[in-house]
Amino acid sequence: MNIFLFQLFLVTILFIDPSAAFTDYLLKKCNQAGFCQRNRHYATNIQSSHNSYYLIDEQSIHIDLDNNNNNSSSLRANIIKTIPRNDIEDIMVELPFKLTFQNDWQSVRFTIDESFDSNTNDDTEAESPLLNKHRYNETGLWSFMNHTDSLNNTPLQFEKFETIQSNLDKFVNFVFQTPDLEQNVIKVYNDINQLEIHLFLDSFQILIFQGEDLILSINDRSLFNFEHHRSMEQNFQNVLPEESTYNMFADDFEYSKGDHVPFGPESIALDFTFNGFNSLYGIPEHADSLRLRDTSNDEPYRLFNVDVFQYNLDSRMPMYGAIPLLLTSNKDKSVGVFWNNPADTWVDIHYTDNGLSQSHIMSEAGIIDVFVFIGEKPSDITDQFTQLTGRPTLPLLSSIGYHQCRWNYNDELDVLNVQENMDREDIPFDFIWLDLEYTDDKKYFTWKPDSFGNPGRMLKKLAKYGRQLAVLIDPHIKTQYHISEEIKRQEAGVLNAGGDLYVGRCWPGDSIWIDTMGKIGQRVWDGFFKDFITVKLPSYIDNLHIWNDMNEPSIFNGPETTAPKDLIHNGGFEERSIHNVYGLTVHETTYDSMKDIYGISDKRPFILTRAFFAGSQRSAATWTGDNIANWDYLKASIPMILSNNIVGMPFIGADIAGFDGNPTPELIIRWYQTGLWYPFFRAHAHIDSIRREPYLLEKPVRDSVRDSIRLRYTLLPTFYSAFHESSINGNAIMKPMFFQYPEHNELYDVDNQFYLGNYGILVKPITSPETFTTTMTFPKGIFYDLTTLKALVVDHLKEVEIDAPIAKIPAFIEGGHILFKREIYRRSSKLMVNDPYTLLVAPTLDNGSASGKLYVDDGETFSYENGEYLETVVSLLAKSILKNDIVHIPVNADCLGNTMIEKIVIAMDSNTMDIGDHATIKIGSETRKIEVEHDDGTTTVIIKNPQVRVNEQWEISFSI
Ligand code: NOJ
Repeated sequence: MNIFLFQLFLVTILFIDPSAAFTDYLLKKCNQAGFCQRNRHYATNIQSSHNSYYLIDEQSIHIDLDNNNNNSSSLRANIIKTIPRNDIEDIMVELPFKLTFQNDWQSVRFTIDESFDSNTNDDTEAESPLLNKHRYNETGLWSFMNHTDSLNNTPLQFEKFETIQSNLDKFVNFVFQTPDLEQNVIKVYNDINQLEIHLFLDSFQILIFQGEDLILSINDRSLFNFEHHRSMEQNFQNVLPEESTYNMFADDFEYSKGDHVPFGPESIALDFTFNGFNSLYGIPEHADSLRLRDTSNDEPYRLFNVDVFQYNLDSRMPMYGAIPLLLTSNKDKSVGVFWNNPADTWVDIHYTDNGLSQSHIMSEAGIIDVFVFIGEKPSDITDQFTQLTGRPTLPLLSSIGYHQCRWNYNDELDVLNVQENMDREDIPFDFIWLDLEYTDDKKYFTWKPDSFGNPGRMLKKLAKYGRQLAVLIDPHIKTQYHISEEIKRQEAGVLNAGGDLYVGRCWPGDSIWIDTMGKIGQRVWDGFFKDFITVKLPSYIDNLHIWNDMNEPSIFNGPETTAPKDLIHNGGFEERSIHNVYGLTVHETTYDSMKDIYGISDKRPFILTRAFFAGSQRSAATWTGDNIANWDYLKASIPMILSNNIVGMPFIGADIAGFDGNPTPELIIRWYQTGLWYPFFRAHAHIDSIRREPYLLEKPVRDSVRDSIRLRYTLLPTFYSAFHESSINGNAIMKPMFFQYPEHNELYDVDNQFYLGNYGILVKPITSPETFTTTMTFPKGIFYDLTTLKALVVDHLKEVEIDAPIAKIPAFIEGGHILFKREIYRRSSKLMVNDPYTLLVAPTLDNGSASGKLYVDDGETFSYENGEYLETVVSLLAKSILKNDIVHIPVNADCLGNTMIEKIVIAMDSNTMDIGDHATIKIGSETRKIEVEHDDGTTTVIIKNPQVRVNEQWEISFSI
């Protein structure tokens, strides 16, 4: 054992690895959840009976053409569900269907609702006067950008149907062919992207082709199931022979706490078959591999926001957040299916031997609202999805620095001590966090008087070094204090099934929940923030940020640790219908309020949310919740974070070095080495764990942790540029291998290494103990070790053994990229803004070229939206010229980005470049000579102090 390992061993004995696990029995399995059991049962039976109960009523087909706005042209029809009955008339249920071909986005949308006016057998209304009997169809108000439905600007509404229009040829981009009634198919064709949809009338099936290729089949396995509303008395005549009636009007799961299921069965389900695709991805959040597993003999993936302290790994069980976007790719095509429904949802996955990926999506309530996205590359899907649901927020620069958190910092002195000790040890950080205990007796919007008597003073002391404070405010509100009284008074709380304010248990004991689904709740919540910050904090501050935790919502005495499904929200909608979007309504309302409060300084708010849904990326960061301080959770953090990154919610991290328990020193080192690549880089620890702020760690653990944090800070310009790119196109920041190289089949299973955005840094963290080498998969090219710049030439995609002693992170920069770094240590990111840059140039093997982008703004305000930013691209051309091309200069603030380049380092391999001893710089009409140093130890070339700035056009020519 070497000395270092021995020291590690000595320190290790102070720590114990926990062995804990989630209490599984609290959560339903599919066969304990009425609608999941029923839909799986139906799926098995319908595939063997080959019956079909759904068809499109030809007479109802109606095509709306809007020549001015292609996105609002649509095809509508009624799907008729027929329930056969012996000797008496069949029951017919009308299900309005609407299809829109959105050619701007290359996407197709369809919705299926239930028509209550015409379905005669529905008398549920009388039974539930408090409830809105219409299915919840307003998800888009939350999941789409701008809070409007992108098609109608109003919640979807289905009108009466007219007969089919003829004379369609004047329509430019779409050709809705007159139905070929002999073949019973309508074909819709878009000549821009060669998409063709075939809608079959007699069995309700949709096929989507691109050119000749069938890409996606919808309902080809006939799993479409729409449990229409009916009363318990009428149920016996409304059930199809293939159906089970399990728990249709009751919920006998032991921990469901008496859900009385007022509407009876109302689930919806549909199957999607991806043709020519071997793998499916997405639908986070699950602690599982990046590539979704075949669930044929297992539990389906469940999307249902719940509090899962010490969650299980390798599991399809639900977690804190849900983004119902399934995506896939092959070497030349990518497809995404967005299931815009926030109810409890299960997804079965099956891969066939002949190259089909099949999925079966089942939701407990609501309408079918599906978007199909088609693109060439997988990133096209993330792009289209975030065009619809909103781009990830461009965060505060400081929020992508290092966050120091723990449950809890006890008082102001404790907070300031942490700050002082971090500074004493030269460890940078930007955020410090206050968990639950800073409040007065767990009453949010208050401070514990003896410990945080003067929060304004504390905030100022932190602000002195550019630091921020985040405090926890959860949506459960202790009963009997002014905040809950106000919620009561304004009728802004969530109601129980009887229409009274719901009272459940959470941290403060008896609590009520703010209902941010509705305008009143939003206004009241906003008022609380204004009072808490603007009124109660005497002098103006803008370094206070908010953490919305437990917003699934977590309810200790609720079914499956969350809200009873029959609670009632604004508009008369049941929790059952909106569950997965509730958390988003909380954090988005918080964000809007903070944005308003900081309107004076125009500062961007920072919000951390635990629960999320499609659209959460617009206003919050998230994290993977209550993990455990052991190696398995470190390893699991990578596919979990990758999964969120590919569905448009890249600002995510995992608690470093494990929330629950006490990590070993070796685990701490490796976790920081991994965590520095998480888009959200935060250390956090459970209240019962031993204090482990970096400065408390024994040497050499402390040194190693400091190195990792500092590496993140040197790369902040690159991280920030990656965040900026993501805020424009939704791109992943921590990016899976197959996203970078979809043409390589071998990369589709790799989820233990990743790229940093489009910046060419390839990393494979060490996630197992006593591991000092690793096998990394490289595509063809040249890769320079990020620290030594030693070149590794890879002639074809292959695995390479890489050394990873304890102080080393296997990280490379791929030939073809240029990185912007800042190498001077400062206490926080704010203090770095005028620091000079170092350019790290990594030429390609073949023609010695490279390029890299830098985005700079003030890192704090929204002024970038008015053009106050600098964007520049540095390129190396033909091994001989390095030049800076300004893409955008700030409109007014010319000092922005007026920063020197202090060093240019060119990584070289004898094959890539051969540079002489001097170079010529040209800036405008001025030309001068500069020295070029060769580092004989490596093949690196260094230009020190070239006297150029990032915000000016310059060109360096090398002599050969
Ligand atoms: C649960 C969160 O997941 C955890 O991070 C936090 O420390 C506790 N709530 C206490 O607020």
